[in-house]
Amino acid sequence: MSATPVLALRDLGKRYGERVAVDGVDLVVERGEIVGLLGPNGAGKTTTISMACGVITPDRGTVHIAGHDLATDPYAAKRAIGLVPQDLALYEELTARQNLRFFGELFGFTGARLAARIDAVLAIAGLADRANEPARAFSGGMKRRLNLAIALVHEPTLLVLDEPTVGVDPQSRRHIFDAIRALRDAGLTVLYTSHYMEEVEELCDRVAIMDGGKVVASGTLRELATAHGADGLEVELAGEAAVLALAIEAALALGGTQVGERLHFDARTAWAPVFGALEATGATVAYVGSRRADLETMFLALTGKALRD
Ligand SMILES: Nc1ncnc2c1ncn2[C@@H]1O[C@H](COP(=O)(O)OP(=O)(O)OP(=O)(O)O)[C@@H](O)[C@H]1O
Ligand SMILES: [Mg+2]
Repeated sequence: MSATPVLALRDLGKRYGERVAVDGVDLVVERGEIVGLLGPNGAGKTTTISMACGVITPDRGTVHIAGHDLATDPYAAKRAIGLVPQDLALYEELTARQNLRFFGELFGFTGARLAARIDAVLAIAGLADRANEPARAFSGGMKRRLNLAIALVHEPTLLVLDEPTVGVDPQSRRHIFDAIRALRDAGLTVLYTSHYMEEVEELCDRVAIMDGGKVVASGTLRELATAHGADGLEVELAGEAAVLALAIEAALALGGTQVGERLHFDARTAWAPVFGALEATGATVAYVGSRRADLETMFLALTGKALRD
């Protein structure tokens, strides 16, 4: 049995003049998952998410949210989604509670039902005791938490967060993380963009890596590590410069990569020939250690680029 995905993007594309911002993105988010969309600046994360949320119109492709086609059934589709945008979207002069009332009313909530929703999301965002202060009095982290509350006030099925921890103090960041986990445990589905791999590693069940407008890999961290050779060994050699140069040449010829002082080999390497070749040059193996997969390594393997420049 496969249930309707909460979000299904098919062949989504967008260009700005000559620049292709998003180039054929397919992405499916299943109910109850936290999916991370990871990529460097300019990868196309915000453009993808903006199309998924109906903020900008794609040039090609389709968006289905909880089974509703965003193009033909926009109200039902948008009703199911809550967006915490990369740039804050709130009214500085209104209090937290007034902001929430405004956005709740946009979705047709009124009276006691709206009041109950407002109290619930203020509690989730940790802003209950600041509810009657204007947003302009809030720190960056508190504004971000108010944006989270705004995204949740109409009780969406899918919460989309676009780099919600940029410029946020550690305490607010922790609060946002704990809130996302608690919401997921209560049944919400989450799509989270970031260019911080540690965040994605900590929070997400599954990751899609974007670069140059495309999804270049997706899966669980474990699947990505296996598929892209991010697990493996690192080796350090000792010996005279001329000998080391020979050994490094031999290592590169056998699939190794040089990273600083060390040589990296992925987990699928045939070890006996590698160590045989290294020792044949006269170099000494001074250190061998295991290398755990991390997204930075995977990202480098996939794109040839560092995640942050
Ligand atoms: N309104 C726009 N007009 C012209 N080009 C744009 C516009 N919005 C985005 N782009 C371009 O499209 C590409 C993708 O941008 P996008 O904002 O989606 O990337 P991103 O992955 O969210 O990056 P960041 O990590 O910096 O937020 C970039 O090259 C960007 O310059
Ligand atoms: Mg962005």
